[in-house]
Amino acid sequence: MPPILSSIIRDEVEHIEGASNAQLSAIDGIAKEFDLTVEKLREIIKYFCNEMDKGLEKTGMNVAMIPSFVTGAPTGKEVGTFLALDLGGTNLRVCEFTFEGEGVVKSKQHKYRITEAQRTGSGRQLFDFIADCVDKFLAEFVTDYSENTKIFKMGFTFSFPVEQTAINKGTLIKWTKGFTCSDSENKDVVFMLQEALNRKGVPAVVSALVNDTVGTLLSHSYKDPKTFIGIIYGTGTNGAYYENISKIKKLNKIPDASGKMIINVEWGAFDSEKKIIPITMFDNKLDRESNNPHSQIFEKMISGMYLGEIARNIILHLIDRRLLFDGYSSKDLNRNYSFETEYMSVIEADGSHTLDDTKKVLEESLNIPSTTLTDRQIVKRVCQIVGLRAARLSSTTLAAVIIHCGVVECGVSVGIDGTLFELYPHFSARLETALRELFGTNFDKVKISLARDGSGVGAALAAMLATE
Ligand code: BGC
Repeated sequence: MPPILSSIIRDEVEHIEGASNAQLSAIDGIAKEFDLTVEKLREIIKYFCNEMDKGLEKTGMNVAMIPSFVTGAPTGKEVGTFLALDLGGTNLRVCEFTFEGEGVVKSKQHKYRITEAQRTGSGRQLFDFIADCVDKFLAEFVTDYSENTKIFKMGFTFSFPVEQTAINKGTLIKWTKGFTCSDSENKDVVFMLQEALNRKGVPAVVSALVNDTVGTLLSHSYKDPKTFIGIIYGTGTNGAYYENISKIKKLNKIPDASGKMIINVEWGAFDSEKKIIPITMFDNKLDRESNNPHSQIFEKMISGMYLGEIARNIILHLIDRRLLFDGYSSKDLNRNYSFETEYMSVIEADGSHTLDDTKKVLEESLNIPSTTLTDRQIVKRVCQIVGLRAARLSSTTLAAVIIHCGVVECGVSVGIDGTLFELYPHFSARLETALRELFGTNFDKVKISLARDGSGVGAALAAMLATE
């Protein structure tokens, strides 16, 4: 293979056996379009830093930089019992957390699946379903619920862009990640939830509203007080960090200008005007066919909801050029979003010489009539190209936040949650490689750790901090 790509991809790719020149040159062309050199990463970071400044100055900017109204940080000494709700992707989680001090937390939790109908129905139906789940959870998991006269305090993790005006108030700016519930955009989500709880007679009061990144940051701080940044790389992507309140120019009433407040960056919307990140025809196709065209462009190149679809677009393009599967697709592969990001995980992890797991995905799950080893190696390369770009691009906004806060020299902890970070093969290693290219040995002072399921605990902590 001709050495035309940035070093990282050359190190990773295997030889494609028996590929024709036409196949090799098509793959190399695509790899080039997806390649992000360290110079390009630096350009993107510079641009993003400027977007962050704009978002801190005015509301309604592309990178929203939403004040969370969480000004305290947990010390690890907090004690008490709180409920938490976590809504943001495929499931709703209802939890009860008991903080026992010394960073110790006990929890009871249950997941309820959100159906397609609930994702796309009315806002009222969705919130009524949530209230039902809380009621069921309390009945099933909380002792003496029926005789209990206490009012439960609840934190609500709502992982969508919300313009917050207080710790327990915020209007939904727009749905993301496939949610399109009617009658809810521009409305206060805490109010809608509280109304639904009241309708159902559930004795709970929503005391704090947090984004999942804010929750992740808070929960990780409970364990590691040096935590400065909380991130999600999952179905969607976003980050939150502690900002000096004096820098949040758009705040009308400044609580205490000398302190810090968590900012929910909402970086999924970065470059929605497609000005700085190199965009390919495969990304444009995905964006055009999505239910939110021209929004969440950064997220659409990175997160678990979309990676499979980008890979599918490339695969179909190669099929149409008769460079793959002898020019034959299948009904299943032709269906939008049928090539799941999970399949990419299986394929990227497939270390067998004959790529047996890849064969299973293609021939059994997607019903491609037959595949050659060359076909499977090309599909694996496509997954590597898409997965690598996602990880390298992910490094930009994280690096930008670190640079913006000037924290690299003094050492910083970053808590990250999400299936992509936790489960997608090589994602975290590729991300760290990119960060090392950017920061050199200073990267040794950045401590990145998995903060699994942090957003629920974080909501309960926010409810506690709000009622202190
Ligand atoms: C939402 C964010 C959320 C992120 C991760 C994005 O689609 O806009 O609010 O934090 O997904 O769940």
